[in-house]
Amino acid sequence: MKPSLQNAEGGLQASSPKIAKVTIEWFSGKMNGLPIQESVKKLSDLHQIFLDEAARASMDQDQEVYRVRWWAPVPPGDEGGLFWGVTTLNPGKVGDEYFMTHGHSHANRTRAEYYTPVSGNGLLIRMDERRVTWAEEMMPGTLHYLRGEHAHRVVNIGDEPLIFWACWGSDAGYDYGTIREHGFGARVMERDGLPAVIPNE
Ligand code: F6R
Ligand code: MN
Repeated sequence: MKPSLQNAEGGLQASSPKIAKVTIEWFSGKMNGLPIQESVKKLSDLHQIFLDEAARASMDQDQEVYRVRWWAPVPPGDEGGLFWGVTTLNPGKVGDEYFMTHGHSHANRTRAEYYTPVSGNGLLIRMDERRVTWAEEMMPGTLHYLRGEHAHRVVNIGDEPLIFWACWGSDAGYDYGTIREHGFGARVMERDGLPAVIPNE
């Protein structure tokens, strides 16, 4: 006899009736089912982020740099919950600088995060509270544990979209202001046809 998956109320034991069914397509980064949220960052949203602001301003402002889709099963700020999301970062450059995310720290510096890419080729730029900055290679299969106190930014150094999944705390929050004001300690620029991590003096 097959074991029954029905609970006493007639619902499936494995899923909460309060949460809509969500499925993911691992390699394309597609998320299906409600309630998925989405944020699109275009060149117009990234003023003063790239070194060559004049180059950025001269490009098509509607050009999409990246898109984040995530599932927030609990409200932002809820203590102890988890969000699950995916970022698709397009290839491209502003002047000599590769397309990248804005970058942030978590408003709550005790909240960590995982990143894992499934497609493309990139660098994860991390910076500690003393502004010591370093880069880690991102490619399908690498797994990155981001300590809560580290600022983080992702750079696409390839020719394909860089797709990475992330899991972070619902009470992590975002501190974008510090990065907008002070930036990271290094930038990733093309030098002699190759990506180079260059101190940001
Ligand atoms: C969440 C997280 C990612 C980023 C996303 C876009 O804590 O780190 O979901 O939010 O990769 O980058 P930002 O937020 O820097 O624009
Ligand atoms: Mn984060």
